[in-house]
Amino acid sequence: NFEALYTYFDVGAIPLLQQGVGCAITLSQMQIACLLANAFYCTFPHRNNSKPGTEYCNYPTINFSSLFADRAPTTTEKLRAIFHYFKTVTDEDTKPRGLVTFERCFIQDRKLPPWTTQTMTFTKLHATSEGTIEKDGRGMLQVDFACNMVGGGVLGHGLVQEEILFLIHPELIVARLFTEKLNDNECLKITGVQQYSLYSGYSRNFEWVGPYQDNTSRDEWKRLHRQIVAIDALNLKRTEDQYTERNIKRELNKVTIATGNWGCGAFHGESKLKALIQMMAAAAAGRDMVFFTFGDRKLEKDLMKLHQNLTEQKSTVGKIYETLKSYCLIKRGHDPQLDLFKFLDVPSSSL
Ligand SMILES: *[C@@H]1O[C@H](CO)[C@@H](O)[C@H](O)[C@H]1NC(C)=O
Ligand SMILES: *[C@@H]1O[C@H](CO)[C@@H](O)[C@H](O)[C@H]1NC(C)=O
Ligand SMILES: *[C@@H]1O[C@H](CO)[C@@H](O)[C@H](O)[C@H]1NC(C)=O
Ligand SMILES: *[C@@H]1O[C@H](CO)[C@@H](O)[C@H](O)[C@H]1NC(C)=O
Repeated sequence: NFEALYTYFDVGAIPLLQQGVGCAITLSQMQIACLLANAFYCTFPHRNNSKPGTEYCNYPTINFSSLFADRAPTTTEKLRAIFHYFKTVTDEDTKPRGLVTFERCFIQDRKLPPWTTQTMTFTKLHATSEGTIEKDGRGMLQVDFACNMVGGGVLGHGLVQEEILFLIHPELIVARLFTEKLNDNECLKITGVQQYSLYSGYSRNFEWVGPYQDNTSRDEWKRLHRQIVAIDALNLKRTEDQYTERNIKRELNKVTIATGNWGCGAFHGESKLKALIQMMAAAAAGRDMVFFTFGDRKLEKDLMKLHQNLTEQKSTVGKIYETLKSYCLIKRGHDPQLDLFKFLDVPSSSL
């Protein structure tokens, strides 16, 4: 049935979303299906090499060859999700009829907020240990805890939050074709992707469960009301590296909302620090936030307490930024065990 997809493409070259350029690409869902069918058959001839210095070394891999070479049981589950996607888009009754927009957003250095002087106070927070971003974050801007090469290991070994997001919404994978590696002041915003599959588990326990019928409504551009923002967390080689002003600022400058333990798994981030950073960025942006702790009830309670304390004391983002600076100095100086919430004088909850 793949032949049918080729008729959806008679336009010129697809532009690239390059570093330092705010630019958007809108494709129909069927055009995306056509591009992904090409990726499946590895027909992008210039994408055969990712070595430094080669033409597309700053872009993620796009052809699917690595998936076919891998015999791991989880790869079979990945392929189930992908085959189900192709089955849906090649069936006349179920083929999707909308559009999807991919937008590279960036902020110039001189426009970055001066964090020390931010006078805004904290916005609303709801922390929960139950539920998932894709299910319970519906209608919110959802965060993809991305790799700087969007999609991370979706066509390879990776199978955590970002890869799962890409597998249940395979239209996201096409971003790898044209999205250059994200810089520190950039993110990728995707509007309108469809969910095709249900899954269970995480990482080695990931399983494709079955079809998902996505009934989300569409906007005036025929895009599904679903918005995902890919922000890449610092990939920390040493956990102590996160406790510097430079790195805290870098993370603050990345966008926020409907989020969770961003960059805390494979990227070695500390969840409390990342949570506070995200609360600060949300406050600066004037947005409320829902924070999913993925089953961690203690973190849920601690965050709600911290938030209550910050709001009651009318703490400002600038003040907390200064406090974090001192915290980093002590933590990296003479007290590497110093707990962030203890330093902030928030009573830790007992469970
Ligand atoms: C990769 O593809 C390009 C364009 O088709 C070709 O010129 C080049 O020789 C190929 N390189 C390798 C390593 O296959
Ligand atoms: C597909 O991509 C991989 C990784 O970039 C590369 O090694 C391989 O040669 C490519 N295959 C084709 C057919 O382009
Ligand atoms: C979407 O709508 C169909 C038909 O009304 C229904 O059978 C299905 O359960 C709905 N899917 C979800 C996820 O609600
Ligand atoms: C908030 O923290 C301050 C110390 O920073 C403490 O004096 C105060 O009692 C706390 N308030 C609440 C409601 O926990």
